[in-house]
Amino acid sequence: MCGIVGYTGMQEAAPILLDGLKKLEYRGYDSAGIAVMKDEVICVSKASGRIANLCEKTEDGKAVPGCTGIGHTRWATHGAPTDTNAHPHMSNDGKFVVVHNGIIENYVTLREELIAKGYRFDSQTDTEVIVHLLEMYYDGNLKRTVIKASSRLQGSYALGVVCTDEPGKVIAAREYSPLIIGVGIGENYFASDVTALVSYTRNIIYLEDGEFAEITKDDVNVFDGTGHTINKKINRITWDIQAAEKGGYEHFMLKEIMEQPGAVKATITPRIKDGDIVLDDMDISEEYLKGINKIIITACGSAYYAGCAGKYAIESLCRIPVQTELASELRYSNPIIDEHTMLIVLSQSGETADTIAAMKECKARGAKLMAIVNVVGSTIAKLADYTIYTWAGPEIAVATTKGYTTQVAVLDLVALYIAKKLGRIDEAEFNRLLDEVQRLPKAIQDALDMNPNISSLAKKYHKAKALFFIGRNTDYAVALEGALKMKEISYIHAESYAAGELKHGTIALIEDHQPVISLCCNKSILEKTMSNIVEVKARGAEVLAVTVKDNQKIVSLADDVIYVPETETIFSAAVEIVPLQMLAYYVAKENGCDIDKPKNLAKSVTVE
Ligand code: F6R
Repeated sequence: MCGIVGYTGMQEAAPILLDGLKKLEYRGYDSAGIAVMKDEVICVSKASGRIANLCEKTEDGKAVPGCTGIGHTRWATHGAPTDTNAHPHMSNDGKFVVVHNGIIENYVTLREELIAKGYRFDSQTDTEVIVHLLEMYYDGNLKRTVIKASSRLQGSYALGVVCTDEPGKVIAAREYSPLIIGVGIGENYFASDVTALVSYTRNIIYLEDGEFAEITKDDVNVFDGTGHTINKKINRITWDIQAAEKGGYEHFMLKEIMEQPGAVKATITPRIKDGDIVLDDMDISEEYLKGINKIIITACGSAYYAGCAGKYAIESLCRIPVQTELASELRYSNPIIDEHTMLIVLSQSGETADTIAAMKECKARGAKLMAIVNVVGSTIAKLADYTIYTWAGPEIAVATTKGYTTQVAVLDLVALYIAKKLGRIDEAEFNRLLDEVQRLPKAIQDALDMNPNISSLAKKYHKAKALFFIGRNTDYAVALEGALKMKEISYIHAESYAAGELKHGTIALIEDHQPVISLCCNKSILEKTMSNIVEVKARGAEVLAVTVKDNQKIVSLADDVIYVPETETIFSAAVEIVPLQMLAYYVAKENGCDIDKPKNLAKSVTVE
């Protein structure tokens, strides 16, 4: 969701900015722009639609020469995705140019104030107030002026600023929106995330909220809102650029589906040492765990559904009540939380605004926070008391796959870890279940290998107007995620229902040839789900069942069957979801959808 990038050095800036913006495409955007400074002149070029349009307009950057610049991909919030509303925005006197990710909540008041003072607004964006504030407060010193203008802003921002009076310099600022600095030799960078910079430098400084950076080709000076320098650590990125490229696959999503066995293995293996679970350098005391009377799992979208799957593992092993809450609801629900509540948050990006807000709300009420996050150094990772990274590697496709499965795998480990610490599981059962968790990567691989016919099933189902996903218990949790995957990339209306709920209303929608995807992996409740299959079939539905190999009864009931390997029921979500990801992928492909960048969606949802 909006991406920003900045460069200053000895090379031409525009090609580097355009390349960085392409790497940030996955975040979601509908227009793009760059501003490049040469001597004391700033040239701005912007285009609605894809970055390809901007490349064409700038002749791949050649039309905007200069070695210092900033760039932006915009995901429209205030004002339509037009050329005028695209960033960068320029001040009336042409001195300042700004790119911004985030939302300025008090922009209406600021806009009125600035208009009253005679500033002309060209766009409908909230961002434009920033350039006019800079012009209004300018006292000949860029650093001081950026601090002053930022102090007027309420909301969230990652900013990049250039000024004609200080050629060769970019200023970056961060408040509740992700921003990192890339440190090179004779050149320096900033960007919304590491993906944009990893082919240029692996030396990264993570900015915190309230921090600014003054960046020239030879120096990076990080300072706070009073102008005092802050000494920052330079972190070394270890993953390779290949990890963020398609590697021969037609889409990032397919590549990331295929990477799941390796990602889950990378997530689990380092946490199992000498037959025990070691959750990084986290030391959660037995005393603290004994005092917990409730766990709340919160997140958004697929991460929330991973939490719904993890709830079964935690409740069944730890016997602690687990409540799953959508972060966007939890933050405004006046939640009943105290120091006996443990909050588990899940996030691939680590930057989801609603999840961050829910964390802050719960922390203020006394809860301890455990975060399960993929992006190292992200806001959520830093806010938590305990952070466990999912080592999924960069996830580029907007629809999450390996992000989800690695989150589920970590929740399985957490469930076992807490159960053991609390003495709620005996040693033999712990060892057996730990083996089961370690079998997950192989089981996911088998689930991929067992289903070469999913693309043919997609040909059968891709014309459906609606798809229903049903299941009970752990199968229901998977149905939730399966339906989301389908709708977000194929644009087919897909809904999930607890199978037992059908007859309380939804069954009215079942008619001849209505596809129903039935999750039938949970053996303890299989007979019940099978009776629901019979009910929908009696009303004309066509049933595609997902089940384990030896389940002959399902084979005779369903119209089509997808098999998955048998796994421990409470850990099965990470395996059972795999064919549903594939089905969504192939259905979307049949429908000619933009699979990696579905319409209206953004990878990192940094606004409310
Ligand atoms: C769906 C999807 C989203 C995210 C959600 C939370 O495929 O990716 O539903 O799961 O926006 O994002 P993170 O995990 O980054 O907090």
